[in-house]
Amino acid sequence: PILVLDFGSQYTQLIARKLRESGVYTEVVPYRESIEDIKARKPQGIILSGGPASVYAEDAYKPDDGVWDLGLPILGICYGMQLITQHFGGSVIAADHHEYGKAKLHIENNGGIFNNISNDSIVWMSHGDRAERIPDGFEVIGTSENSPYAAIANESRNIYAFQFHPEVHHSVEGTAMLKNFAKHICGCDSTWNMGSFAKEKIAAIRAQVGDRKVLCGVSGGVDSSVVAAMLNEALPKEQLICVFVDQGLLRKDEAEQVQDMFKLVGIPLITIDAKQEFMEALAGVTDPETKRKAIGEKFIEVFDKEAKKHTDVSFLAQGTLYTDVIESVSVKGPSKTIKSHHNVGGLPDWMTFELVEPLREIFKDEVRKLGLELGLPKHMIGRHPFPGPGLAIRVMGDVNEEALRLLRESDAIMQEELKATGYYDKVWQAFTVLLNVQSVGVMGDNRTYDNTVCIRMVESVDGMTATFAHIPHDVLEGMSRRIINEIDGINRVVYDISSKPPATIEWE
Ligand code: XMP
Repeated sequence: PILVLDFGSQYTQLIARKLRESGVYTEVVPYRESIEDIKARKPQGIILSGGPASVYAEDAYKPDDGVWDLGLPILGICYGMQLITQHFGGSVIAADHHEYGKAKLHIENNGGIFNNISNDSIVWMSHGDRAERIPDGFEVIGTSENSPYAAIANESRNIYAFQFHPEVHHSVEGTAMLKNFAKHICGCDSTWNMGSFAKEKIAAIRAQVGDRKVLCGVSGGVDSSVVAAMLNEALPKEQLICVFVDQGLLRKDEAEQVQDMFKLVGIPLITIDAKQEFMEALAGVTDPETKRKAIGEKFIEVFDKEAKKHTDVSFLAQGTLYTDVIESVSVKGPSKTIKSHHNVGGLPDWMTFELVEPLREIFKDEVRKLGLELGLPKHMIGRHPFPGPGLAIRVMGDVNEEALRLLRESDAIMQEELKATGYYDKVWQAFTVLLNVQSVGVMGDNRTYDNTVCIRMVESVDGMTATFAHIPHDVLEGMSRRIINEIDGINRVVYDISSKPPATIEWE
């Protein structure tokens, strides 16, 4: 594959997606991945992403030094270009003014990395620092009006660097440049697709697991269902134990729905009722991170107990996605964790399972394609995402039975209306949140002082960024009217109009 080292640019994920969409398998790892782990992935080429920092900052992100000695082709983008410039002895300066937006890249030679690219191609710039002097052995291969060093290369060492961002949509021939790098410089083939991904991962699961057993945590969501389907293909029946934990934080009728779905696809499922244990663990917990950690730990305890009932269970399989990884283990180090997605940051130290996480490098929309490839039914694949910590992170403050009732009932009404009006498949995710805000209302001749429910609906492609959904007011009105009329204890409904960033999709 091509390996992208992530230096924290908001566009990093796009590099991988653009390459995968052009048939080249690509993985993203944090910039500080050790050289041993990098080698273990057997990359054919390395891309150094952009990033918000300056290479001269005291705590500038640097890759493992071993990266430079791998002898592999390297492409640096923006910050990645500055790293290359600095490492090979050129110099970088802070530009007087930042350069953002469209630029015309002029090239003379339409071969190699610029194979079939027009001589004047629109690209997208977004940078503060820039190369002032390029290193010995490098030459300019592309210029723009404001950037004499828009693209440089040391072609004998197969090292390339772009000041612009080929991965963004506005760089018109950017995807072709990335593909040229992968194909002509790194020698990757471009025959990869979700079907080959499925085959590779199934083979990798077999190799990893051998003749031991895997416990697969199933939530009924797309990700863990896809993992279960892959394991089901990879392993003989007696090596796979799919476990669905009813932690008491599920939506209305969800436990039955999940069991039915698994019956339909013919994967045996053990359901464990752990409602009481989870409620005890959550009693009095109001801090979001503490909630997430408590739930993560409980899940592992329950899995551990179940595993002990069988012999030789060494692995835990989960539907961890790249989004979960990157937000829990931020490139900026543990201090900048955004939230501990329960299957990454929430795992306790004492856990003895080895992990099987075949979806760790891909995004939600890619998982959906993979699910279809594996033959899962559309209604299973099209389900909105639902977080592992369940309704607990949608009850602001203390999680108790009454709060869960209000949340469950309001969510069920909202979902019904969403489906009835044909909006379920048009939004990426929709749910209600129980705020711990009481407000005054009037019902009949009586004053009420009741709870507030917030409706959250977002549009997104991969969960990394999202905008609130522009739902017609009459659809919202229908939801609000029914929630307030039908649920005792709610007298106000509000709509969340924040996007991610700076908000996140969930409230905790
Ligand atoms: P945020 O709130 O981080 O959510 O913007 C992004 C997407 O991830 C889901 N989410 C989770 N999924 N375990 C999961 O499996 C978790 O701990 C978790 N937290 C958030 C969220 O519902 C949204 O789709």
